[in-house]
Amino acid sequence: MPAGKLHVLKQLDLSRLPTHIAIIMDGNGRWATKRGLPRNLGHKAGCENLKRIITHIYDLGIKYATFFTFSTENWKRPQEEIDGIFNIVRDYLDEDAEEFLRRGAKVVVSGDYTRLPPDLVKSINNIIEKTKDCDRFTLNLAINYGGRDEILRAVNEAIKQGKPISNPAEFSKLLYSSDLPDPDFIIRTSGEMRVSNFMLWQMAYSEFYFTKTYWPAFSERELQLALIDFQKRKRRFGSI
Ligand code: FPP
Repeated sequence: MPAGKLHVLKQLDLSRLPTHIAIIMDGNGRWATKRGLPRNLGHKAGCENLKRIITHIYDLGIKYATFFTFSTENWKRPQEEIDGIFNIVRDYLDEDAEEFLRRGAKVVVSGDYTRLPPDLVKSINNIIEKTKDCDRFTLNLAINYGGRDEILRAVNEAIKQGKPISNPAEFSKLLYSSDLPDPDFIIRTSGEMRVSNFMLWQMAYSEFYFTKTYWPAFSERELQLALIDFQKRKRRFGSI
């Protein structure tokens, strides 16, 4: 995540940004197919865009960002595509580890990443360990992640501990994302209007933004337009 040059649209109020933004990066495959390219080049372009957008989120001063990288349902894809995604993620973590550290960015993971290929598990463990004391920004990668799976794990953990859960905050502590606040704002690219098993517990009061733009083409400017839209919402959390 190299330092970005910050251009801020004048309608964007930097004092009212979400604390935690989460993104469902959809449309890599269609972006590639439209250009006559193999799907994995779409994921590669998606990774390049992820780097741009993470840098921009960081530069804007947002503290937490979650990116849906690989779902518990994505194992249904062809093995070649799965391997391609894992290699892209591994290379990204290896290449950018020092930069994360330099920028004070902590990397955490939601999902059972121990089931991923050993080289990727090693890269993930390495970056988690390296950045664990960073506190300027937290990047949460959802890998081998499913919201239902996460809730089931938490329920089983509660049963194991043998004591009833008395409130939602206590339950949140048993989730992968226990150290992160719930996402204030969730963006999904590519025109699909669904949640796809993402952060089901945490999204109780999230604001949503759907755009037709495919993920590799989702720009810093569009992120700012989405944030301007977020700032027009009146969040009531059940009150009037
Ligand atoms: C959804 O597009 C995207 C994915 C399942 C993979 C996301 C992975 C990356 C962007 C790679 C880089 C990530 C990191 C963390 C380095 P799709 O394939 O479902 O697109 P489609 O709906 O058009 O087929």
